[in-house]
Amino acid sequence: MKRLLVTGGAGFIGSNFIRYMLKKHPDLHIVNLDALTYAGNRENLRDLDGNPRYTFWHGDICDPDTVERWMSNVDAVVNFAAETHVDRSIHEAGAFVETDVHGAFVLLEAAREHNISRFLHISTDEVYGSIDEGSFTEKDILNPSSPYSASKSGGELLARSYFITYGLPVLITRSSNNFGPYQYPEKLIPLFITNAIDDKPLPIYGDGKNVRDWLYVEDQAEALDLVLQKGTAGEIYNIGAGNEEMNITVTKSILKLLGKPESLIHPVKDRLGHDRRYSVTIDKIQALGWKPLHDFEEGMKKTVEWYVKNESWWRALKEKQAAYQEWYKKQYG
Ligand code: NAD
Ligand code: TYD
Repeated sequence: MKRLLVTGGAGFIGSNFIRYMLKKHPDLHIVNLDALTYAGNRENLRDLDGNPRYTFWHGDICDPDTVERWMSNVDAVVNFAAETHVDRSIHEAGAFVETDVHGAFVLLEAAREHNISRFLHISTDEVYGSIDEGSFTEKDILNPSSPYSASKSGGELLARSYFITYGLPVLITRSSNNFGPYQYPEKLIPLFITNAIDDKPLPIYGDGKNVRDWLYVEDQAEALDLVLQKGTAGEIYNIGAGNEEMNITVTKSILKLLGKPESLIHPVKDRLGHDRRYSVTIDKIQALGWKPLHDFEEGMKKTVEWYVKNESWWRALKEKQAAYQEWYKKQYG
C-alpha cells in the first residue's frame, strides 16, 4: 500500500490516524478528503502543512465526481467521514442518512470501479445497541437505538454487501467511544473538560450511570492500522479498551484532575433513547496482535493536559456552536 485515501480526516479520529500513519509508514502518501462540516477542522493537522506525503482536498463523499477523482489515484481507502454526534442526530437526522449511508454508497461504488485493494469502513459499537450484562461479539445482531447508530448500521451493511456481492475487499471495525486530543468540544469528555475550566456546569444526562468503554485515540489508530494491514477481507473487528466507566465516574475524574468542585455537576433530563451500556468482546482483534496501551486514568490525564494546553483550539470551536447550543439548551434545560 503506497497511496491511501482517508475520508473525514479533518475530524477527531481521522486526524489522529493520519498523523500516526505518516509517522509509522515512511513510504505512505495520504489524501485526506473532507467536507469540513462543523466537526472538520484543518487546524487538527496544521503540523502537516508542506508535508509532501500529505494532500488535503475539501470535498464531499456524497459527490461522485469528487470521489471518482481521488479514487482513481489511490490503492486503499479508510472511510471515517460521517455525522457522528447522537444528540445532533436526535435534533436533525437527515445529514446522518445522507453522509453515513449515501456517502458510504458513493465511496463503495467508486472503490469497486477502481479495484481498490483494501476498503476499511469505520463503524461503531453503537450499532449493537445497549447491553445490560456481558459483551457483544461480532456475530451479534445489529439493534441500533438512535438515528446516528441506525445510519452507521446502514452504511456498514452496505459495505459488507459489496464484499459479498462484488468481492470488494471490505473490512469493518466497530469501536467503542474514543477520547483524546482534537475531539470536538460537544462530546462528553471535551465538553466537560472545557466547561470545568471555565467553571460552567457539567450537564449530566439522567442518573449519570450510563456506561461507555473509553478507548484512547492513539490505541484506536494502532488498531485500525493493524486491521488495514492484516485483517481478513469481509471480516468485522470489534475494538474496545476494557475501560468501562459510568458517566458520573468520568465526570468526577475530570473535576479531580482540574482541581474543580463537584458542585459543577448539573443533572439534566435524560437523552431520548439513551443507551444504558456499550460493551464489546475484543478476542478477534487481539488475535491479530493488538491490545490497548492506555488505561483510563493515563488516557484521561493526557487528555485533560492537552485541553489545558490547547485552549485557543477549543475556544474558537465553542464560539462557533451558537445554533446547536440553543437547541441543546431547550432540550436539556
Ligand atoms: P468527527 O465528527 O470528529 O469527524 C467527522 C469528519 O467527517 C469531519 O472532519 C467532517 O468534516 C467529515 N465529514 C462529515 N461529512 C462529510 C462528508 N459528507 N464528506 C466528507 N467529509 C465529511 O468524528 P470522529 O469522532 O472522528 O469519528 C470518525 C469515525 O469514527 C466516524 O465514522 C464515527 O462514526 C466513527 N466512530 C467514532 C467514535 C468516537 O468515539 N468518536 C467511536 C466509534 C466509531
Ligand atoms: P457522547 O460523547 O455524546 O457519546 P455517545 O453518545 O456516542 O456515547 O456521550 C457519551 C455519554 O455521555 C452518553 O451516555 C451521553 C452522556 N452525555 C451527558 O451526560 N451529557 C452531555 O452533555 C453529553 C454530550 C453526553
